[in-house]
Amino acid sequence: MSDETEKTFTLTDDQTGASYKLPVLDGTTGPSVIDVRKLYAETDHFTFDPSFTSTGSCKSRLTFIDGEKGILMHRGYTIEELAEKSSFLEVAYLLLNGDLPTQKEFDEFDHNITYHTMVHEQLNYFYRGFRRDAHPMAIMCGVVGGLSAFYHDSLDIWDPQQREISAHRLIAKIPTLAAMTYKYSVGQPFMYPRNDLNFSENFLYMCFGMPSEPYKINPVLANAMDKILILHADHEQNASTSTVRMAGSSQANPFACISAGIASLWGPAHGGANQAVLEMLDQIGHKDNIPEFLERAKDKDDPFRLMGFGHRVYKNFDPRAGVLKKACDEVLEDLGVDDPRLELAMELERIALEDPYFVERKLFPNVDFYSGIILKAMGFPTSMFTVLFAVARTVGWVSQWKEMIEEPSLRIGRPRQLYTGPAQRPYVAINKRK
Ligand code: SDX
Repeated sequence: MSDETEKTFTLTDDQTGASYKLPVLDGTTGPSVIDVRKLYAETDHFTFDPSFTSTGSCKSRLTFIDGEKGILMHRGYTIEELAEKSSFLEVAYLLLNGDLPTQKEFDEFDHNITYHTMVHEQLNYFYRGFRRDAHPMAIMCGVVGGLSAFYHDSLDIWDPQQREISAHRLIAKIPTLAAMTYKYSVGQPFMYPRNDLNFSENFLYMCFGMPSEPYKINPVLANAMDKILILHADHEQNASTSTVRMAGSSQANPFACISAGIASLWGPAHGGANQAVLEMLDQIGHKDNIPEFLERAKDKDDPFRLMGFGHRVYKNFDPRAGVLKKACDEVLEDLGVDDPRLELAMELERIALEDPYFVERKLFPNVDFYSGIILKAMGFPTSMFTVLFAVARTVGWVSQWKEMIEEPSLRIGRPRQLYTGPAQRPYVAINKRK
């Protein structure tokens, strides 16, 4: 399985005494991996890791997370520095292309994205088919999947130019579709994108602007929006990104793959948690009720979970939560909003982080715990929160998809299983069944 020079693990079959040397691969930083690609051929055994807790699914150069230390980096830059010093569009360039852009590179990228923000006029009619009270994520799954019906000129995933234009179209058009989804839900007219605004200003304009009067950009809100998008841009091989990669491994077109990622993100255990946090805070209602809900969160027979707490990887604080908490304070102060849910959230965080159940299980606030409070203060309904997460994560999904397609060893993803069903048995005619 490996030559003498390589680092290896030795696996021994205690039944037969046979042993197998498995190569160990080292990354730039973080845990090394045991390469089990030849394990089945050599041992007639599969590995078993149903939720992939101990499985590396790919090599990637985009994002690094250290769950114990609360570290998140994109192409080597920490999320704290990017949130403070960069812009969402610059982070998009970084994730897509590998390095921070020069001014010339950024200006060209900004122009390309800006001039792809409009969608085909026919797409407006997609919305008419939905009820006004349809969940915005249901609409996004549909309209984003439908994009592949419009861009036959960029579906050849093996052509680098077509991959690039598809990536630009998705990054540019999904905010427009998201804003249209919000406008449709409130019965207001769609707002066309404006080329004189930056990415986040334009998104807020398309959401909250009205054709009947000029829209005044609030720089504090635009800055907070940009920061929220940066914090949600990419996050290694999370559930929705793994969904995009799996769909892409079958060589499905990028629009269909991103639509699959949106569907996965919708779940309350994943991107749907930001909506669930607000609903939970409204359910708790008052800080006097916190102890009762904490007890429910610990009760295995009670499906209630403390939404916005815990993470598959972060077993320390989620670095994004800290940045969001700061942005939360700035937005609420600027807007003069006194949202009792913020106070309730901070009291909930304080009590939970003193409770042995949460401390022992290392359940800290995650990215979703504070994002909902800011988004609510900015005027978004809770049903739009996961859509906003999808607007940001499209950059990560597209970058991860592009990295995968450019991988020379690309093969269709095809996990195996441990079969626990019935052994072979003869068919019984219906009149003979008991
Ligand atoms: C995101 O993967 C990513 O990177 C995702 C994300 C991204 O950017 O893409 O970071 C975005 O999805 C953040 C997570 C948002 N989800 C939530 O806030 C929902 C609430 N959180 C839980 O559902 C849970 O913490 C998960 C799903 C996030 C993580 O689940 P794990 O890793 O499978 O953890 P677990 O279920 O094994 O929990 C370990 C223990 C269990 O108790 P015991 O069996 O050990 O007694 O902790 C308990 C769990 O019951 N637990 C919780 C809890 N989270 C875990 N108990 C109460 N409330 C919680 N929130």
